[in-house]
Amino acid sequence: MSRKRVGILISGRGSNMSVLIEAAKAADYPAEIVGVLSNRAAAPGLATAAAEGIATASLAQSRFPSRDMFEDVMTQTLESWGVEIVCLAGFMRILGDDFVNHWAGRMINIHPSLLPLYKGLHTHERALADGATRHGCTVHFVTPGLDEGPTILQAEVPVLPGDTPETLSARVLVEEHRLYPEALRRVAAGIAQAPAPL
Ligand code: GRF
Repeated sequence: MSRKRVGILISGRGSNMSVLIEAAKAADYPAEIVGVLSNRAAAPGLATAAAEGIATASLAQSRFPSRDMFEDVMTQTLESWGVEIVCLAGFMRILGDDFVNHWAGRMINIHPSLLPLYKGLHTHERALADGATRHGCTVHFVTPGLDEGPTILQAEVPVLPGDTPETLSARVLVEEHRLYPEALRRVAAGIAQAPAPL
């Protein structure tokens, strides 16, 4: 079996990154994690990845004259690792169209809501403010519109009486950690594919 080479983009704690690294340790998993790139040098996930013997890089957008140049160097870094699939895992930068189009059909993201509900930030707070009774997470292909690409998998959780953003996000995170490895497995195995552009 040839395993797809995967690069993960993070900005912080990297718990989704960690579950992808763990999943990819199984001999029959169709992907291997070959590199982790962060836009923040202080992202705790970088140390976790390095401790696993995975290549890491940190690139601060503020050190580049433009977002395009920053993103070109991200692509060069990913390609230097031979990356075939990019996983966004808590990467807190909006990506430009050129970068997104370069990786079209090969880049996926996890978002903590039942898309198309609650695109963007503060999803748990917004779900609670709306009195939502169900919430969850989505893994989707990345397209230029923020949190808009085709869904690969979703998982739902109930919103319970007395929930706070913290309790709700913890319940969703359990599902994120189940969902993301399965979604990457499907993409790497070719079971989930982005629809061809019109
Ligand atoms: C997760 O909730 C993910 O859905 C969102 O950012 C958070 C990242 O958490 N995109 P972690 O860094 O994977 O722990």
